[in-house]
Amino acid sequence: MKTIFLFRNKAVGLNDSLSSFCQLAVTAQCLCLFAGPPRLDGAQSELEDAAPASFQGNPRQSHIVEQEQIAHGRKLFMRETFDGNGRSCVACHAITTGTLAPVEAQARYQRAVSSPKGVQIDPLFRSIDSDDGVSEKYDRLLTNATIRVHLDLPPEVTLETDPARRSIVVNRGIPSVINAGLAVVLMADGREPSLESQALHAILGHAQAARLPTQAQLEDIAQYERSLFSRPELAGAVPDGSAPLLPPASTPEESRGRKHFERGGLCALCHSGPLLNTTLDDRHFENIFVSERNVLQNPVQHFLFQNADATMKSVETPDPGLALITGDVADVNSFRIPTLWNIKNTAPYFHDNSAQTLEDVLAHYRLYLPLSAEDSRDIIAFLKLL
Ligand code: HEC
Ligand code: HEC
Repeated sequence: MKTIFLFRNKAVGLNDSLSSFCQLAVTAQCLCLFAGPPRLDGAQSELEDAAPASFQGNPRQSHIVEQEQIAHGRKLFMRETFDGNGRSCVACHAITTGTLAPVEAQARYQRAVSSPKGVQIDPLFRSIDSDDGVSEKYDRLLTNATIRVHLDLPPEVTLETDPARRSIVVNRGIPSVINAGLAVVLMADGREPSLESQALHAILGHAQAARLPTQAQLEDIAQYERSLFSRPELAGAVPDGSAPLLPPASTPEESRGRKHFERGGLCALCHSGPLLNTTLDDRHFENIFVSERNVLQNPVQHFLFQNADATMKSVETPDPGLALITGDVADVNSFRIPTLWNIKNTAPYFHDNSAQTLEDVLAHYRLYLPLSAEDSRDIIAFLKLL
């Protein structure tokens, strides 16, 4: 059985890995984020009703202009289709959670098929996201709530079976847009540099737009996204703000669970910092074997990576993650460490939606980390406070 130490992602022997694990644990002693006064508690899940917290990262703009931008951005997010396939952002990033769960996809499908006009009335169901990308069969979308994401291959990478092909499709879950304005790394593989470029690519890709958005429209959408926080004090996590602290525990279970996120805790090794999304030495990507396990049996693809010394390495995986952005075989199956704020509302989990519940997430970690069944229950109790 693999252990936590292999999480350190480069292929290393146990001793090497042990020493890097210890290094992390030592660094953990310096982490002071988790001490401090009790935090506010104002979880906000209804996007529609959310009074947008002001974004403090852009001092050039007056509050009023900013509020207008947010309101305009919200309208675009909810309704603007850019004459494409009928999709606006909210087709996939639902109002309440900022994401989409299989039960919601199924309910929407039922509603749509029982209407006179059929499934086409709901823009979630467009053939580009059908099982094969061209038909009208939506088993994958309904079961896993994953979307087909097209990725260009970097120059170092080819497909063993089809060397001429320069792009692939992977099935990915929809991350929540709530708190996304705080993310340093966007998308599971980090490929988008800004919310504006992300919005442009969503409009051209998911929405198959016939009309280009203006730069101002992209900025308004991004500004709206920057106003979506799951709790007000996260607004302080922008540069120069005060970092949010871990919520206080009020039961013995929560208190034991919290320890895994405090200095020296196992989960804190990777879920640290104000957003609980970095390692202790501030790295943003790790491999925790989600692609390797491939629980949902996404199609496995055969890649050839060219190493720096011109040798080739062949890799089989449903989704190589970061490696398709860097072209570096050492990054195969590494994914962005996601924030854990609001986690109780954003199931399913992992880049491929392979964990339906927090119990499933912990069952995954128990394959690799020294955690008992009780530890899992404690951690879940604490995660529900975030
Ligand atoms: C067809 C469904 C779909 C539509 C429509 C859609 N998205 Fe997404 N969105 C996704 C998926 C899937 C991802 C993750 C892709 C990945 O990781 O490679 C994503 C990722 C994102 C992210 C990154 C969040 C993070 O934590 O990294 C943001 C922000 C976002 N979308 C905003 C938008 C905006 C704005 C629009 C409208 C212009 C939009 N999306 C339309 C499916 C969709
Ligand atoms: C070695 C680094 C590492 C450690 C240690 C770690 N995580 Fe993670 N965590 C990740 C990465 C990377 C992902 C994203 C994996 C993916 O999408 O394939 C993730 C994803 C998650 C998710 C899903 C988030 C989402 O939005 O889909 C949860 C929940 C989570 N971790 C909780 C925990 C808990 C609880 C612990 C401690 C038991 C823990 N993690 C320890 C790196 C780590």
